[in-house]
Amino acid sequence: MSNVRSKIMGVGYYVPPRVVTNDDLVKLYGIDTSDEWIQQRTGIQQRHYVDPGVTNADLAVEASKKALDAAGVKKEEIDFILYATLSPDHEFPGTSCFFQAKFGIPGVPAMDIRNQCTGFLYLLSMANALVRTGQYKRILVIGSEVHSRGLDLSTQGRDVAVLFGDAAGAAVVGPCAPGDQSEILSVHLHADGEHAKDLWLEAPGCAFHPFRLPKDALETRSIYPQMNGKTVFLNAVRRMPEVVLEALKHHNLKMSEVDLVVPHQANLRINEAVAKFLSVPEEKFFNTIQRFGNTTAATIPIGLSEAAAQGKLKKGMLVAMPAFGSGFTWGAALVRW
Ligand code: COA
Repeated sequence: MSNVRSKIMGVGYYVPPRVVTNDDLVKLYGIDTSDEWIQQRTGIQQRHYVDPGVTNADLAVEASKKALDAAGVKKEEIDFILYATLSPDHEFPGTSCFFQAKFGIPGVPAMDIRNQCTGFLYLLSMANALVRTGQYKRILVIGSEVHSRGLDLSTQGRDVAVLFGDAAGAAVVGPCAPGDQSEILSVHLHADGEHAKDLWLEAPGCAFHPFRLPKDALETRSIYPQMNGKTVFLNAVRRMPEVVLEALKHHNLKMSEVDLVVPHQANLRINEAVAKFLSVPEEKFFNTIQRFGNTTAATIPIGLSEAAAQGKLKKGMLVAMPAFGSGFTWGAALVRW
């Protein structure tokens, strides 16, 4: 067994320039909602949407440039691309391949996963394991989403549509130099497919017969994400604290030893409940949902980047990163920054 340890070498993110406020959802799309309703229930004030012609891979290219800069790594050094998205540019091949060509690193292996809001953590777990075996040395981990093109931006779809925004986040994962205390300590992952249909996008899919895009997909709205909001909420507030405590127990650490929590951003009210359950003071719980909405797999690298830029995430800190999402999937990473 190799004794290589692994760490996050640098993070970066990119959001498209177009800001869509809660009032814009009413004015531009005619959705029967209000800034007051959205802020009260979710904390979201605005999100970003891509302009025509911009793809998921384009967002990832910009985020990756920043992550490489922060890590001090050249793109030629990247030896694996791991890509999480639920809003791929095309059904196949994976968006990681389109990204690889745009980013200009031919020959580097590229892999997509579909683990929604927990996607970044699933990839961090893989990257951590692959670096520790010594097989790869500079893994580019990406979470990128173009939600705006998949949402039902009408009153019928308002429960889901108001929550999500477009963004990409990226991290470079590599081995620790001797004496470097920074480290991915562990990532703890879970799933419960019994809840798969509580937050899902049904069509297109090969479960349909005889063709994967049913003729009535628009009328039945099976082409739009559907959510059982209350069930998602109740499970998220239970699972996120649970898995943070599991991660801490694994290392015989206490919650009071955690310097910063950088959680997934599904709903500010979920995160407030999680912070309360874990007795984490507000200043140790880093939220970004107000400005970006829920950006699924891009969310945690956005949080890490913003926390570092604001001077709240410093070298040597113990950082917990819990996430919960469709699947249901959930997990938590514990990192010495
Ligand atoms: N604007 C205005 N009204 C809305 C609305 C919107 N965007 N969305 C729903 N409503 C209405 C509903 O139609 C309903 O009206 P009715 O009482 O006349 O039927 C009312 O608000 C309450 O709806 P409900 O679904 O019970 O609201 P809620 O209190 O459960 O809050 C969420 C809805 C989405 C904010 C909440 O369930 C939630 O945050 N769930 C978790 C979502 C999540 O995190 N998803 C991503 C996971 S990774």
